[in-house]
Amino acid sequence: MRCIAETAKPPNSGGTVMGLSDSYFLRNFHPMDVPRIADIVADALREHYEPSLYISLSREWPEGYLVAVDGAGMVQGFLLGVNQTPSEGRILMFAVDAVWRRRSVGSSLMSTFFHRCRMRGLRRVTLEVRVGNATAIRFYQRYGYTITDLFQGYYSDGENGYQMARYL
Ligand SMILES: CC(C)(COP(=O)(O)OP(=O)(O)OC[C@H]1O[C@@H](n2cnc3c(N)ncnc32)[C@H](O)[C@@H]1OP(=O)(O)O)[C@@H](O)C(=O)NCCC(=O)NCCS
Repeated sequence: MRCIAETAKPPNSGGTVMGLSDSYFLRNFHPMDVPRIADIVADALREHYEPSLYISLSREWPEGYLVAVDGAGMVQGFLLGVNQTPSEGRILMFAVDAVWRRRSVGSSLMSTFFHRCRMRGLRRVTLEVRVGNATAIRFYQRYGYTITDLFQGYYSDGENGYQMARYL
């Protein structure tokens, strides 16, 4: 799996709604989200996965899999994180619909994910990103990630990938 990473308030104690702004909110992933997430992945990440993959990845740590939903109930972004080791989280996929970018959806997802990681006692988060994805690299650096490794030919089209990481 390739990597395909708040201004929001911290999670509410009782429900799945975690952060709220004027126009979107965050909640946990639900299997019914898969078709829309697959569309976002195809468009934003140029990848195509079996629908069952999105569901199986949600089982180990459901709280690490977040979606951003607009006022009409449509998923507009998501962050799929897993508990890679006892002390590390890893972001496997992170994307926001093109129309919804630069409206802090990505920041909300990332900040809430950090909160979830800390609540679980995780100390570090890693991810991979295409070396040519300057927008995402800048975003990650703004969130305290640094480049920790270079993976030659990491992506299916041969592009190299950076591993990035930050301590919590
Ligand atoms: C990376 C990505 C998820 C960021 O999501 P986003 O919702 O656009 O993130 P934000 O809106 O929180 O922040 C993006 C930028 O918009 C700016 N911004 C946020 N709200 C803003 C606002 N109201 N007005 C102007 N700028 C704003 C942020 O400061 C940030 O600036 P930067 O470009 O210097 O980092 C998104 O660009 C994306 O989906 N890209 C394609 C998929 C991808 O590359 N995923 C990562 C794979 S590893």
